Order: sequence, then C-alpha cells, then structure tokens
Amino acid sequence: MSIRPDQLDQLQMDEGKRLLAAIAARDPSPAKTLAVLSELRRDHDPDLVAAAMTIHLLRQRARGRFRDADRMWFTGEGLEQATGDHVADHRSARFAGCERVADLCCGIGGDLMALARRQDIGALLAVDRDPLHVAMAALNARIARPEVDLTAVVASAEDVDLERVDGVFLDPARRTGGKRTGLETSPPLAWALGLSDRVAKVGVTVAPGIDHALVPEGWELELTAVGSDLKEGVLWSPALATAVRRAVVLDPGSGEEHDLVDGEPGEVPLVEPVAGMTVVDPNPAVTRAGLVRELAAGLGAGMIDPKIAFLVTEVSVTTPFGRSLVVVDALPWHERKVKARLRELGAGPVDVRRRGLAGDVDAIAKRLRGHGGRRMTVLMTRHNDAPWAVIAEDAYHDAGTDT
Ligand SMILES: C[S@@+](CC[C@H](N)C(=O)[O-])C[C@H]1O[C@@H](n2cnc3c(N)ncnc32)[C@H](O)[C@@H]1O
Repeated sequence: MSIRPDQLDQLQMDEGKRLLAAIAARDPSPAKTLAVLSELRRDHDPDLVAAAMTIHLLRQRARGRFRDADRMWFTGEGLEQATGDHVADHRSARFAGCERVADLCCGIGGDLMALARRQDIGALLAVDRDPLHVAMAALNARIARPEVDLTAVVASAEDVDLERVDGVFLDPARRTGGKRTGLETSPPLAWALGLSDRVAKVGVTVAPGIDHALVPEGWELELTAVGSDLKEGVLWSPALATAVRRAVVLDPGSGEEHDLVDGEPGEVPLVEPVAGMTVVDPNPAVTRAGLVRELAAGLGAGMIDPKIAFLVTEVSVTTPFGRSLVVVDALPWHERKVKARLRELGAGPVDVRRRGLAGDVDAIAKRLRGHGGRRMTVLMTRHNDAPWAVIAEDAYHDAGTDT
C-alpha cells in the first residue's frame, strides 16, 4: 500500500485536501471502503481518490501509535517500520540540549517527530535514501512542531556531511524484501558505531536479541518495552551512556517510565517456591538486558534456579519490571500429576510459561486446561536443575469478588 511522490504533492493541494477531508468525514470501515471509493470517483481523478484512500487507511491503522495519526503521512512500509510516539519520545530525550541532531534513516519520521517536539533541541537534519519517506518525514515533523528548523535530504546516510551536527540518531532498516535478515542492517552496524569518531553523541537502534558481545566498550545497551511488549534496543555512545545495560518499561496507560540499570547485585539466594510465595516473571526488557539479578536484589527476591529468570519472594510484591503471581502449589514437573493437581484446584483456562524445559507450550496448555473456571498459570521450569512446575495465579485475580 503506497502512493507516488507526485500524488503526495497533489494531496497537499486544494482538491487533495478536500478528498482527504471527505474520506475522513466518512472514516469508512473496511466493508465500506469500496462504496466510498466509487462515490468519490464520480467527481475526482480515480488515481487521486485511490491515493487519498491509501493515506486514510494508513492513518486509521496508525491511530494507536501516533497522537497525530489522523494528520500524518505514511507509506505502508514506512508505518510498519516507524517508531511510535511513546518509545520515540523516550529516546529523543537523550539529545536534550543538542544544537543540531541528524536522523540519518528518518523513514516517515516517527523518531524525527519526537526530536522535533523537543524545544531543547536546536535544529534537525533528516536523511533517508527513499525520497517519499524524506518528503513525508518533513511534513510529519512540521505537524509535530510547525516552526522546526529542519533540513531534509535524500541521500545515503554514508554520504552525508555531518558538519555542525552534534547528535546523530540512526534507526537502520532491518528488513530486506519483506524478510527479516537477523542482525544485518542498512547501513551496517559497524559503520553506525564508527559514527562516534565523527560526532560524540550517537544513538543506534539494534535488534533486541543483540549479542551483548557486540556492544563496544563504553557504550550503553538500552532495551525498551511498552508494557510487556519488547520493542527494540538502542546502543548509546559513551557521550550519551549513563549505564552499561538498561531496561526501560514504558506504561502504555499512564505514560510512566521505569528504569533499571546494571549494578552490583551480589549473591542472589536460591529459593524453593512454595504456596503463598510470590513469583515474579521479569519483563523481557529485563531478561534481554541481563538485569534479572539486579531486579532480584531490588525486590529482595531469590531465584528458582541460578540459570532461570523466575524470581521468588516470601512477601507479596508488585513491580513495573515483571508480572507477579501468587504460588498456589509447586511440584516436580510431571504432566499427568500437574494436570491432576490442577483439577483438584478447580483450574479453568491454563496459561503455560516455559523457561528451562522443552515442550510445545500451546499443546501443553490445551492438555492441562480444566473446567473449574479458575484461571491459572503453570510455570514449566527448573528448580535446582530439576524439572519443576509452579502453579500460580495473578495476585489480584479475585479482587472484589470475595467481599
Ligand atoms: C527502520 S526505518 C526508520 C524508521 C524511523 N525511525 C521512523 O520512526 O519512522 C529505516 C529507514 O532507513 C532507510 N535506509 C536504509 N538504508 C539507508 C541508507 N544507507 N541511507 C539512508 N537511508 C537508509 C530506509 O529507506 C528506511 O526508511
């Protein structure tokens, strides 16, 4: 789903604006799209009607991610790759006080808009090798801040002159021909890291599964999740780094940000989970950042197993960095015995979380489910290196129903 650069220009003119407004007023559901298209084609150029509808449908799709979605400009691919407001606002803060920040792979401008929103950043340089993306990014940045001092350039990031630039952000392309290519990016990571020889303050996005051995000395690896949804990582150059590893959890409801950084957690005790204890299932940003021990130390928690990222506390805890469950029972893993125990407990739907054991989670959850109506979670894991099952339920599952 995309449009041509000349159509993007036409949509900025009177007829294009009228068409977009007419479609927005109808805001058609997928079932009504064809009817609206036929109606508008009677009085307008069919090509332009199709382009306007494309933009409108992309705006509809973008609504959950961008506060200005209904005014923004997208290509299908550009929207798919764009950083939503929440994450973009969080990471743009590192460039506070910069005089001129370059976004060298600006796409349709998700991150660029967040940089534009910051009044404490002077000017912006937006670069992408895709002309349509550059044009859309410039339009979108001006939605975020109409008076923004912005230079938009169609070029390869590798060819751009970085004179007067004191901050660089780079969110390289990570897909080729619609397929994931692992850690291969355009521009390549090695080139991106070398940018710090030219500009001290650099941020480069990386796949969340990045091998920590690829993080250069002095750089910070930050992993961000929105709720429990792990987004990507960012490598911050030494001039922007304030930790070695950081997990950030953004609360999609309240907008709050929670930060956990590496430290010296010391020894974390090994604890056998028993009924009444709380199990904490750490957020994927915490596990990917390698901060499970730091989280344990902060919560005063123990570990079920030295190699497994489930934590246990004697007292009930809640944390933005994980999901808390109350242990109902724990026993050595044996599917038939676990199923029998679940039946005794009146389990209904059963979620299975697996760490340290093999097995098809969906198939096992299906076999374990009962008809009792009590939603339970089974942690298939290891305790002291032995296969273990922890039967648990959400800490506040029955709030309001017991009174
Ligand atoms: C992941 S997207 C960027 C998304 C952007 N951060 C946003 O929030 O909208 C990557 C972009 O990099 C561009 N790109 C890939 N290789 C490039 C290169 N060598 N030079 C400039 N742009 C490049 C692609 O055209 C694409 O628009």
